[in-house]
Amino acid sequence: MTNPPVCNYEGSDYQTSFWERGGREYEDRTEAIALQRLLPRSGRLLLELGAGAGRNTPRYLGFERIVLLDYSRTQLEQAQGRLGKSDKYIYVAADAYRLPFVDGLFDAATMIRTLHHMADAPRALGQVKNVLAAGGMFILEFANKLNGKAILRYLLGRQKWSPFTLEPVEFAKLNFDFHPRAVRNWLNSLGFRIEKTLTLSHFRVGLLKRIVPMNILVFLDSLFQWTGAWWQFTPSVFVKAKLGNRGSGIGNIPANPVAFFKCPECEHSPLIDKKEYLECSNCGKTWAVKDGIYDFKEPVK
Ligand SMILES: C[S@@+](CC[C@H](N)C(=O)[O-])C[C@H]1O[C@@H](n2cnc3c(N)ncnc32)[C@H](O)[C@@H]1O
Repeated sequence: MTNPPVCNYEGSDYQTSFWERGGREYEDRTEAIALQRLLPRSGRLLLELGAGAGRNTPRYLGFERIVLLDYSRTQLEQAQGRLGKSDKYIYVAADAYRLPFVDGLFDAATMIRTLHHMADAPRALGQVKNVLAAGGMFILEFANKLNGKAILRYLLGRQKWSPFTLEPVEFAKLNFDFHPRAVRNWLNSLGFRIEKTLTLSHFRVGLLKRIVPMNILVFLDSLFQWTGAWWQFTPSVFVKAKLGNRGSGIGNIPANPVAFFKCPECEHSPLIDKKEYLECSNCGKTWAVKDGIYDFKEPVK
């Protein structure tokens, strides 16, 4: 099966241009609050999908180990620069549509500002379900097509696509907004139960961000986040979903990360550790391990 196209961040300065120099303090701080409200207090192994430069990673406080997965090696190198190399952080370059992990490995997963690059969102979500253990937690952020601005523009005839229909809208190449009900439907059909929904960025308006003191804006957003339980009209939505209890429970998590992996090509595990690469004894493919990054994007041979 061919994989959908990937939005390529290789070589991108996204972290500095969007977050550090882009006036996004309000969005960053409100995300930190949402994560604090949604994350389990403790856990063993968390998978961060589309981790980018690791902006959110230090917020996964209670977890013993964290796997940062991203398609872009250069984003992971930036994350390494921020978080350092240690046993706590495991860096994996791979495609979210083709996860290189054995089933039921993680007790939690997050995907923040990443689903909006997925042309086939249900397929990516299905991959998350496979690698979560029974009862595992999934915290998902998605871009909401049913947001106030889109509704207004549509009603005034200034936007062709309807924010009310369930199909995703691709507003720029490989950038998608989703209807909250569509996301709920996908998660439910995969066996997730949604426990909490928070809405974020109620005040993502340039003028407000300029004239209202940041602390007040963040405080108000933190109050309004809870209204996500009843309605979702903000550009960004966070859900906390729990996978059903059927299937494999959270067993012992291997100390050596090599045991986490399966061959993304033929799904065989375990892979053989050859130090500079991992080898699949079934299909013969080899996967690079370079500068602390396990690379499953393309086989070495
Ligand atoms: C907008 S950035 C968000 C980064 C980080 N989650 C944050 O909020 O700061 C999206 C990230 O998703 C990654 N990404 C996009 N498509 C992907 C895919 N198919 N598999 C893995 N990562 C992907 C990109 O490389 C990029 O780092």
